[in-house]
Amino acid sequence: MTIFSVQSTLFSRASIVLLSSNGFKRFSFASSFSSNAVYSSPLPKMKKRRYPIVSAVDIGGVTIARNDVVKDDDPTNNVPDSIFSKLGMQLHRRDKHPIGIIKNAIYDYFDSNYAKKFEKLDDLSPIVSTKQNFDDVLVPADHVSRSLNDTYYIDSQTVLRCHTSAHQAELLRKGHSRFLVTGDVYRRDSIDATHYPVFHQMEGFCVFSPEDWNESGKDPTLYAAEDLKKCLEGLARHLFGSVEMRWVDTYFPFTDPSFELEIYFKEDWLEVLGCGVTEQGILKQSGLENNVAWAFGLGLERLAMVLFDIPDIRLFWSSDERFTSQFGKGELGVKFKPFSKYPPCYKDISFWISESFTENNFCEVVRGIAGDLVEEVKLIDNFTNKKGMTSHCYRIVFRSMERSLTDEEVNDLQSKVRDEVKRKLNVELR
Ligand code: PHE
Repeated sequence: MTIFSVQSTLFSRASIVLLSSNGFKRFSFASSFSSNAVYSSPLPKMKKRRYPIVSAVDIGGVTIARNDVVKDDDPTNNVPDSIFSKLGMQLHRRDKHPIGIIKNAIYDYFDSNYAKKFEKLDDLSPIVSTKQNFDDVLVPADHVSRSLNDTYYIDSQTVLRCHTSAHQAELLRKGHSRFLVTGDVYRRDSIDATHYPVFHQMEGFCVFSPEDWNESGKDPTLYAAEDLKKCLEGLARHLFGSVEMRWVDTYFPFTDPSFELEIYFKEDWLEVLGCGVTEQGILKQSGLENNVAWAFGLGLERLAMVLFDIPDIRLFWSSDERFTSQFGKGELGVKFKPFSKYPPCYKDISFWISESFTENNFCEVVRGIAGDLVEEVKLIDNFTNKKGMTSHCYRIVFRSMERSLTDEEVNDLQSKVRDEVKRKLNVELR
C-alpha cells in the first residue's frame, strides 16, 4: 500500500498548522510514501564512510570552500557538513536522473506550448541573501520560515535558499520576464521517507503587458489567474496523463490570489505545486507597475516519487547502480523496481528536554551521525512530570537502502547519537 500524507508548500498558511505524525509543526514541501516491495539481492560491499570528505564543491563553475558555508565560530551558522556535501550535487542537471528527467519533461511542455519563450535557468547558486530569500518576495519579518529552526543560515545575512522564489526579484530586475528556474533548495525538517533537508524545485514566472489582457476585456488579475491555471492543468496532463485535479485556495506572501494544485493519485489528493498571481509590490520593485504576472513553484521529488514509483526520498541521492541504471534520458514513464528492502533496526532514546529543544535540531544531530542510514525519527512518548520537566522518547529507525546493517554498526551509531545529543542539545539523557 502506498500512503500519501498531507503536506504543503512552505509558505502556505495551511502548512503553518500542519502537524507531522508525531505532533510537531512542519513546514515542508517534500513527498510522502511507504513502500510495499520486499526483494532480495546480493549484498554489496560495506562502505565505512558515511559522508564523502569534501573540502570544496563546484557550483556552476564557482568553487565554494567548506569554510565559506560551514562556520564553526559564527553562532548564526547552522549548516552541518552533511548539508555542505550536497551543495555541488546538482541532481537536477543530470539527464538520466529522475529529477533531471522531470525537469526536461517540463521544459518540453513549455517549449512546445510557448514557442520556447520561457528562459531556462538551472545553475543559479543556492547561496542567497536573506533579502533575496525573504524580503524581495515580501515574506513578513516575523514569518516562521525565517527562523534558525527552519532555514540554514550561513551568517545572519546569507542563507541556503529555501525556495526557488528567492530568484524572482533579481531576474525581474535584470529584465527577464518569462522564466523557469530549477535548483536545489534547503530546509531543516524532521526525518521520514518523504522528507529530506535538500530537495529540488522549479519556479515558473510569466509577466504580462496591457496588450495581453486588453483584448480579452478581462480584469488583469483574473486574466493572469486563468492563464496560470490553464498552463498548469496542461502541465499536469503532460506529466500524469488524464488525471483528476482540483484547485485549492491558499495563502503565500508573494501571490494573491494563491492556489495549490492537487491531483488524484492512488486514491488520494496530492498537492503538487503552489502558485498565484504575483503581488504587485514585487513587480513594482523592478519598474513593472503596469504589468501583471503569475508564478508557480513545484517540488520535483514529489512529482518524481509519483511518476517513477520511488518509495523513499533518500534513493534520489543513491549512487548504487541498482538505482541509477533504471533511468534513462527522456524516459518519463519508467516504474522503479525496488531492488531490496533490508531489515530496519529500531533504537529508542529518551531525555529531559530544555526550553531550547526542537525536533529539527535533534533530527539534524541524528542525520549528522547516521546520514542516509536513518529512515525515520518518531516521537513515541512525551510527558511532563510533577516538577514540570518534560521527557521525550524518540524511536530512530535505521535502515540502509543498499545493504543490511550489522548490530555492531547500529549500536555504534546509536552510541554516537547519544554522545552528540548530550554534547549539542542541552538535554539530560535518561
Ligand atoms: N515558493 C513557494 C514554496 O516553496 C511556492 C510558490 C512559488 C508559491 C511561486 C507561489 C508562487 O512553498
